[in-house]
Amino acid sequence: MATNANNVNELDNREPADAIKPSENGANTPVQHITGVGGGVTGDSTDYIMRVQNLKKYFPVRGGVLQRVVGQVKAVDGVNFDVRRGETLGLVGESGCGKTTVGRTVLRLLNPTGGNVLFEGRDLTTLNAGEMKKTRRNMQIIFQDPYSSLDPRVPIGQSVGEGLLIHGFSREEREQTVRDMLKRVGLHPEHARRYPHEFSGGQRQRIGIARALTMHPSFIVADEPVSALDVSIQSQVLNILKDLQQEFKLTYLFIAHNLSVVEHISDRVGVMYLGKMAELADRDELFNNPRHPYTQALLSAIPIPDPRIRRDRIILKGDVPSPLNPPSGCRFHTRCWLAQQICSDQEPEWRDIGSENATAHPHLVACHFAEQTKVKGLANEIKEQLGTDTKV
Ligand SMILES: Nc1ncnc2c1ncn2[C@@H]1O[C@H](COP(=O)(O)OP(=O)(O)O)[C@@H](O)[C@H]1O
Ligand code: SF4
Ligand SMILES: [Mg+2]
Repeated sequence: MATNANNVNELDNREPADAIKPSENGANTPVQHITGVGGGVTGDSTDYIMRVQNLKKYFPVRGGVLQRVVGQVKAVDGVNFDVRRGETLGLVGESGCGKTTVGRTVLRLLNPTGGNVLFEGRDLTTLNAGEMKKTRRNMQIIFQDPYSSLDPRVPIGQSVGEGLLIHGFSREEREQTVRDMLKRVGLHPEHARRYPHEFSGGQRQRIGIARALTMHPSFIVADEPVSALDVSIQSQVLNILKDLQQEFKLTYLFIAHNLSVVEHISDRVGVMYLGKMAELADRDELFNNPRHPYTQALLSAIPIPDPRIRRDRIILKGDVPSPLNPPSGCRFHTRCWLAQQICSDQEPEWRDIGSENATAHPHLVACHFAEQTKVKGLANEIKEQLGTDTKV
């Protein structure tokens, strides 16, 4: 993200940390504790396509002559969230915070170390290879760099139709579907015979999208799908994703490190920090009323092109700690300007503090002081800068 990790905290109009008291079970604001799975509320009748419960993914670190396991990179360490059918859930956070690992683990491209992933009501972590193969038709991924996932030696039509081949579709069916898909993403059907190097970055991403859609999935993880593209091309690809979402009734988990992109496309947004979810709320609620200090820092770092507008940028101190040995309690406490003793002693609960707009979905946050972190001024500036109809 655009946060500067090497500068000290520069806050001038916020309350000093010692003026703030932790809310003990909602001492100041009524707190709705989460009792349902994945951060939903018990009895919630919402139609969820996916529910992720206490998801963990650790990567072993080996060392010494015998290559023994000497530690674990806790890339994802107890993450809860739900994905509602038909929505786009944006996932943001600095590089290395675990976004890609979440995306791959919920598709079971990586096996989780712990936790559950309910997809269409079935726990993916318990499916055998045959059941997983069937389920995978409904779940696809779009990569940041489609070039690395397209075989340079085969015509792109073959790559786009690969899933159809695996699932036993005839040659005619494959060719017809590939032609249709290429047309839908704005390419010519004749392009099927060309090779990846003959396309531009934007066209290759369209090929990646076409490939993800050939099996008519219901759920797509889009992992930084526009990050490698020129800004002028980004909005074209985002608009294709939006159009296809409507046409095919798709649900997206949209991963990005660019907040403007996430703001443009998401219905709800989750913010990750060092393998944990820090905050998750409806897009407008999150951008207008950020309550986790880390979210506030990310939003305050969005550049304002108009030099007349001045915003107090929250500059985080220190570097992101290593996921090999994450800080105790709240993982953000080593960089948080509001941190107090309780923050290093106790991990904050993942809880619903309620949205400003009563009709909005839960506003989930993991911070002991979430009731006291309302930042005056920041919300309006961000609103002014981004608006709700921001175009990338
Ligand atoms: N295969 C792997 N083996 C060891 N560590 C990994 C592996 N994949 C990711 N990591 C580590 O896990 C953490 C999260 O990585 P990642 O999910 O790629 O983050 P993001 O997508 O947010 O940049 C990082 O510290 C990264 O170095
Ligand atoms: S719980 Fe974490 S984010 Fe909240 S004030 Fe403490 S250190 Fe900061
Ligand atoms: Mg990534």
